[in-house]
Amino acid sequence: MAPMFVGYADADGTVSSLVLDHYGEMAGSGVSMVVVENASVDPSGAGSPFILRVDQDRYISGLTQLAKAIHDHGALAFLQINHAGRYAYMRERLAPSPFKTGDIVPKEMTHDEIKKIGKAFAEGARRVREAGFDGVEIHGGTGYLIVQFLSPRTNHRRDSYGGVLENRMRFPLEIADAVLQAVGKDYPVGYRFLADEWLPDGLHREETIPLAGALEERGIAYLSVMAGTYDSFFLPAYLEEERSEGYMAHFAEAIKKSVSKIPVIAAGRIQSPATAEKIIQQRQADLIGLARVLFADPLWPRKAKGEVAEPVVPCESTCALCMKRVGKGKPAFCSQWDKERRETFLRRVGEKEDGQ
Ligand SMILES: Cc1cc2nc3c(=O)[nH]c(=O)nc-3n(C[C@H](O)[C@H](O)[C@H](O)COP(=O)(O)O)c2cc1C
Repeated sequence: MAPMFVGYADADGTVSSLVLDHYGEMAGSGVSMVVVENASVDPSGAGSPFILRVDQDRYISGLTQLAKAIHDHGALAFLQINHAGRYAYMRERLAPSPFKTGDIVPKEMTHDEIKKIGKAFAEGARRVREAGFDGVEIHGGTGYLIVQFLSPRTNHRRDSYGGVLENRMRFPLEIADAVLQAVGKDYPVGYRFLADEWLPDGLHREETIPLAGALEERGIAYLSVMAGTYDSFFLPAYLEEERSEGYMAHFAEAIKKSVSKIPVIAAGRIQSPATAEKIIQQRQADLIGLARVLFADPLWPRKAKGEVAEPVVPCESTCALCMKRVGKGKPAFCSQWDKERRETFLRRVGEKEDGQ
């Protein structure tokens, strides 16, 4: 399962019973590994009030239950750690440069703040390990803080963290080093890898491929490849592209060619088991990641294995209900769930209507 923020955490970032049940179901679907949605490493880095948090030791007990729920249902458990930077939900935001985001101009981070956030990633990763997860994933995708440093579009600094690619890679690599050091060499650290910002003036492969190699050298265990950020996700060209099956597989392929040993995960509307098989056969990726696809049909893996003889229920390509709901701070559900399941869910989260 590729990470998918569903907004089920309690308002203080703790693991709720809804989170436990959801990830139990995802783990029981037959996937080999669940990567839990992005959890915030620092109060300044939360992308939503209902985001999981790993920024204090008091979150470890809930996270321990979460890792156990995933293990009890037969999958490996990973958790993604993140700082949202200029996409944080509060008005005062941190970023490499004061790049206007909506009507907000984020604060340019000082060197002390950069060091502090690096430490927060390391501490967050340590808590993930202590909670019993099998590994941790650094969120270097979706245009969050790590990408904001890497991209020349959002990083206009003139110090050692800005300018040439080597400098813009400094923050992502410092985070990777800090996390690897905090958890120890025997513990897998994955990386959600942004191959392309999908914007004319954004990051492209020429500048992301060198990072892939550097991460592999540092000891990162896998790269989970994606493309696009909140600045591109809603553009007509992106929306058109992301309707097609396996729309990000070619990015995974390019990244796979640039690393020598570590596995690469492809995601992006891998709607049918046949598409998944083709991606693996054609060596575009080593592993398949399902996010909305698994949310829409938690029987996908069993259907792929032939254990359930029914067709896959597809994630509706023009719907985006899950994304729209989490964008409004509401818990996600899927338009493809049957009526009874939708109604039970809405009752549980205290909503009366089958609203948007
Ligand atoms: C509602 C929603 C939340 C997401 N949350 C995350 C996240 O927390 N971390 C992450 O790396 N990707 C996240 N993604 C991206 C997915 O992991 C995945 O790359 C993308 O949705 C394409 O795969 P799919 O077509 O199977 O959904 C999210 C996507 C959606 C739609």
